[in-house]
Amino acid sequence: MEDTILIIGACGQIGTELTERLREVYGGKNIIASDIREGNDEMMAAGPFEIVDATNKEQILEVIEKYNVNQVYLMAAMLSATAEKYPLKGWDLNMTSLLAVLELAKDKHIEKVYWPSSMAVFGNTSPKMNTPQKTVMEPSTVYGISKVAGEHWCNYYHNKYGVDVRSIRYPGIISWKTLPGGGTTDYAVDIYFEALKNKNFECFLGENTRLPMMYMKDAIDATIQIMQANSDQIKIRTSYNLGAISFTPKEIANEIKKYVPDFSISYKPDFRQDIADTWPQIIDDSQARKDWGWKHEFDLASMTNDIISNLKKSKEYSL
Ligand code: SER
Repeated sequence: MEDTILIIGACGQIGTELTERLREVYGGKNIIASDIREGNDEMMAAGPFEIVDATNKEQILEVIEKYNVNQVYLMAAMLSATAEKYPLKGWDLNMTSLLAVLELAKDKHIEKVYWPSSMAVFGNTSPKMNTPQKTVMEPSTVYGISKVAGEHWCNYYHNKYGVDVRSIRYPGIISWKTLPGGGTTDYAVDIYFEALKNKNFECFLGENTRLPMMYMKDAIDATIQIMQANSDQIKIRTSYNLGAISFTPKEIANEIKKYVPDFSISYKPDFRQDIADTWPQIIDDSQARKDWGWKHEFDLASMTNDIISNLKKSKEYSL
């Protein structure tokens, strides 16, 4: 049977590029994009699109039946900084959507589920250097609590009902096509836009705050790779640690200065500093590398080169 994939949250930072790539891989008509709002012109033109509220199980089922969907990528979520402002809303969106999709998989409406977790599952009591796959997890944020709980629901549905659910703990994801919203790692996206537009940037994290990060292209590769792996390669059904690069605001600013020599950065840490301080600095992702062959491609220098050369193609950002 041909795979038909529903993406819930297709208009978000990761969803947008994931939809684009999945349509290249599987063909436009086989990828059903959905979100609570319409996508950009490109997304609407390149394949089917449905308005779907991620917390509404019946609405999701209608779309699954309409298109004969067999896989769901659930990308809708409220990220760390926003969920601290709206804790119960964040919990509700992140949990209700996951349980709805897991139930649909349990009832055999779909065969395979992808659900992203995050490095936010770790907290102050977890080791910050080479944070292991299995370690203490006492998250400090509502977002982290929802991700730890979600991971265990995934594992439970796999063990109890045989649901084929796969998950990755993303680090901060850096993109330039679609902006993130409400995350603690978002500074590392905004900094590129501000550097090219205004040549200065006020960072909401301190200069030496090291966090695990990854370029969007690598994140999309990892996501499709774990979903295409044979089921017996997926030995962890909570979620896999995933790493690529780790850097501080000062280090990314220095990299950008190679392209924008008069770029300046200042630091004004806010509540997001407290969140970042509880997260890992470098993640040990050896299990993902061993089980399903994960390998990252981009480091800080090659990512910066790729982002700046792409942004410079647009008039708004050409220096
Ligand atoms: N990028 C996310 C955030 O900052 C982490 O998963 O919330």
